[in-house]
Amino acid sequence: MTDRESLLMKQAFEKALKNKAIVEKDPYRLSYHLMPPVGFLNDPNGLIKYQGVYHVFYQWNPFAATHGAKFWGHYTSVDLVHWREEPIALAPSEWYEKDGCYSGSAIEAGGKLHLFYTGNVKHEDGTRGTYQCLALSTDGIYFEKKGPIVRLPDGYTTHFRDPKVWRKNDRWYMIVGAQTLAGEGRAVLFTSVDLTHWEELGAVAGSGMNGLGDFGYMWECPDLITLNDRDLLLVSPQGLEPDGHFYRNLYQSGYFVGQLDYETARFRHGAFTELDRGFDFYAPQTFTDESGRRILFAWMGMTDDSEQYQPTIANNWLHALTIPRELQLQNDKIYQKPVAELRKLRKKEVRMDHVALEGDQLSLKDMHSAELILDFAEPVVGGFEVYFRREAFLTYDPGSKEVRLQRRNVRTNRMEERVCSIDSLTKLHIFLDHSSLEIFVNDGQEMFTARYFPDPAESGVILAGRAELGVKMWDLG
Ligand code: FRU
Repeated sequence: MTDRESLLMKQAFEKALKNKAIVEKDPYRLSYHLMPPVGFLNDPNGLIKYQGVYHVFYQWNPFAATHGAKFWGHYTSVDLVHWREEPIALAPSEWYEKDGCYSGSAIEAGGKLHLFYTGNVKHEDGTRGTYQCLALSTDGIYFEKKGPIVRLPDGYTTHFRDPKVWRKNDRWYMIVGAQTLAGEGRAVLFTSVDLTHWEELGAVAGSGMNGLGDFGYMWECPDLITLNDRDLLLVSPQGLEPDGHFYRNLYQSGYFVGQLDYETARFRHGAFTELDRGFDFYAPQTFTDESGRRILFAWMGMTDDSEQYQPTIANNWLHALTIPRELQLQNDKIYQKPVAELRKLRKKEVRMDHVALEGDQLSLKDMHSAELILDFAEPVVGGFEVYFRREAFLTYDPGSKEVRLQRRNVRTNRMEERVCSIDSLTKLHIFLDHSSLEIFVNDGQEMFTARYFPDPAESGVILAGRAELGVKMWDLG
């Protein structure tokens, strides 16, 4: 470890220690989501199960609740439910990463944990450098940096980052998010046999490629995965214009389904589908564990014009990750399910098998940190509403077949909404935490993820409308 690296790690550690009391007393601190110990968190990184332990690394600025020279913070778990904070994995100490150890991924090879990440460099004249780097560990906790292994290829700007590595047909592959010199988003494929020498195979998808029209000026955090023998490219494009109820956030995250020809690096794919229809979901990453499940974590946040108004900043922290979700593919559509392990969090079960609402209301108490399952006996034909602690609400209108989530915007103080269309409403599975909502509609056919900041004293959830349903709920606090 270099002197600079140990100094940065020490400074970050001291910052977290000094702020521990103030951060932990924040009423919006979440009870079962991963958060930064202090400062700013964004993307999940390096997701892997290694030597029997789940590892989640994350983009972290320990020194302020804003972007900055990112570290890789680190949590581990044996069950995806109880997490342990580990020593910092990467600090931006070397010349090739001095302005941030940016996002990347993890694989195991030869018994070693390999982290691939982007070294971000901002020069004094305003230009940037970008280096795809490697770091190795034998225990999953302490990492030895090997420096840059992929340089910026011709044809791209220095917005070239977020390597995701996987193995296929006895070779290694890496996909990187990119921007062409003409300002178009791309996902660029590389291959290697030894993990240190990488050959560029070319862009597999991007704005203006494969039948896509204009599709953003930069693609971040690509992830190429296989589900049911189909190849999926998950990616976070920047620069899409809102289109009806689609693309309402500043940046988007979604996927293309198709078939990748690994020989020619040609990816035939269909249309882009958003992974989440809520307000706070970006830069997802996935991994598989030994059970073969494909598990996703995302950043439950977004850098937009309201981010800096979030009330947690007063207590020196900002943002969190989503709960882990299992991905399944049905008819080329991703369905998201909360991982089964989360049932371990359930306490104090309440069950109401037959609830008939006829324009009246049902009040549920103590819903600060809770799980709620609403099973509709028949598809809902009257209207249905859920009010969350007087600060957000979900409505289903069977006439338009639209599900609508509204919450108060922390900057404007006005309600804002996100909307998606479904065929009929059969189920709502909702994870509430002190300042977050994750709503699985019809077993994860559609998702709404949002942060919200209700009066901490307000813990009631109200169900209203005309519907017959079964209600199950648990305290997760
Ligand atoms: C996505 C992103 C990545 C980058 C990282 C920096 O949110 O912009 O492209 O690597 O965040 O923190």
